[in-house]
Amino acid sequence: MSATRLTRALFYSAATLRGATKTQVRSACSGCSSCSSLCGQKGAKRDLSLTAAARQFAAPQMKPQVSGVVSSKLRNDMLEVKFGDGTEGRLPFVWLRDNCQCPQCFSVEALGRKLLMDDLDVEVQPTEVEETMDGLMVKWSDGHQSEYSTNWLQNRSFTPTSRALHRERYALRREPWGAEHTMKNFDYNTLMSDDRVLLDWLLTMERKGSAMVKNAPKKDVAGPELIEHIAFVKQSHYGPHSPVINRPNTNNVAFTNAKLGMHNDLPQYEHMPGIIFIQCVAQHPGAGGESIVTDGLFAAEELRRNHPEDFKILSSTDMYFWDKGHANYSWEMPEFYKIAKFPVIKVNGNNEVVQIAVSNTTRDSHMDLPPQEVKKYYAAYKRFYIILSANAMTFKMEQGDMMTLDNVRCLHGRESYDADSQRHIETSYLDWDEARCRRRRLQEKFGCFI
Ligand code: OGA
Ligand code: ZN
Ligand code: ZN
Repeated sequence: MSATRLTRALFYSAATLRGATKTQVRSACSGCSSCSSLCGQKGAKRDLSLTAAARQFAAPQMKPQVSGVVSSKLRNDMLEVKFGDGTEGRLPFVWLRDNCQCPQCFSVEALGRKLLMDDLDVEVQPTEVEETMDGLMVKWSDGHQSEYSTNWLQNRSFTPTSRALHRERYALRREPWGAEHTMKNFDYNTLMSDDRVLLDWLLTMERKGSAMVKNAPKKDVAGPELIEHIAFVKQSHYGPHSPVINRPNTNNVAFTNAKLGMHNDLPQYEHMPGIIFIQCVAQHPGAGGESIVTDGLFAAEELRRNHPEDFKILSSTDMYFWDKGHANYSWEMPEFYKIAKFPVIKVNGNNEVVQIAVSNTTRDSHMDLPPQEVKKYYAAYKRFYIILSANAMTFKMEQGDMMTLDNVRCLHGRESYDADSQRHIETSYLDWDEARCRRRRLQEKFGCFI
C-alpha cells in the first residue's frame, strides 16, 4: 500500500473507531473473573489504599444512593462534610463554587465548565448550606445557588483515597523491572478481535512498559493496522512506519547494520512518541541482530538512590537532540531539520520520573552549558548508561514478533548484523494519550473502572 493510501485508510478506520467508542454505554461490573484479573482487583500486588478506595467507591456507584451528606460544618474557608457511609471530606469554598454543576456553570453535554474565571470570586463564601438525601445545596455570597450529589462530592473529596483513585484513572502505577523481567505475550489476531485482551495489553503496557505481540502478519503495515485498531498512528517525518533495513546513503544510523546502543526513539521531537511497535518481519539467521531492552524507570530510580548528584544533573540539565536530512522514501518528509531540548531524565512537579530520553545517535554536539560543567555532565550520563546496561535483557526476536515498549520509559537497542543480511524490522508509534484513552473507555465498557 502506498504511504498516502495507508495514511488515508488509517484516518478513516480511526474515525470509524472513534464513532463506535463514543456510543459505548457504561455498564456496571458484575464481578466477572476477567475484570478482576485485568484490573488487578484480585491477586495482583496493589497499593493498599487504592484497594480500599476501590471497595469504598465501587459499591455506591453500583447501588442506588442510600444516604447523602449527613452533616456539614464551615471551617477555615472549607466545608467539612460527613457522608452517610461515615466517610468525610474537606471541600474548599472556592473549589465548590468553581465546580457548581448547574446548567449555567457546567455543560452536561460537553462535560465542561462554562463558568468563566472572570466571574469567580476567590473569596466567595457560603451564606446557606443544606444537607439533603441526594447531597448538598449551597447558597453563595455572589448570589448564586449550587447543588451537588453525594456521589460526585465523595469522588472528589480531597481525601488521600479519592486522590489516589483519580491518579490511577489518569495513569496506572508503573512497576519497574530489572534484567530478570520476562515480557507478557499477546497474540496479534486476538488483540485485534478481543477487547478484553486488548485491555489486558493496555494495562500491561502502562504497568510494565513492555509486552511481546506474537504472530504478527508478515507485512510492513502490521504495526500501523494494530495501532489503528487502538486509536491512530503517531507519525513522524519518517512517515507512518519505517523499514529498518541496511540501506546505502541512509538518513538514520538505525537504517544500517551497525550496533545500536540502547535508546528511546525520536527524542528529536519535543513530543516523543509514547509507545513504539518494533515488528520483526525477517530476522538475521546467524549471530547478530539481537535486541537489548532495559527499563529506564528502574535505572533512573537506582541512580536517584545511589548517585543523587548525578540524578540531579541529568534531571535538571537540558540536552539538545537533533535530526537533519532528506527522505529515503516517497512517504517521508522531503527534508527535515528537527531540534528538541529537554533533560535526559524528565521529572514532574512531584519529582516523579515521567520521561527518559537517551539516544547517542541524535544527541546533539551542541551543549547549552558552560564548558566547565561538560565533563561532570558526561560522568553522570555515563553512570546512568552503565546502570541501564547492567539491568538490560538480551534476546532475539523471531519473524512475527512485535515488541511493544513504552518509549518514554524503556530503552531498546540491537546488535550489529551482516551487511548483506535480509533482516527487516518495521517500527511505528502510538501516543500515550490515545492508549490511556482507550484503556479508560475499555475499563468503563467492562465495568472494571475502580
Ligand atoms: C530503530 C531500532 C531496532 C532493531 O530503528 O530505532 O531501534 O532491532 N531498531 O533494528
Ligand atoms: Zn451554577
Ligand atoms: Zn529504536
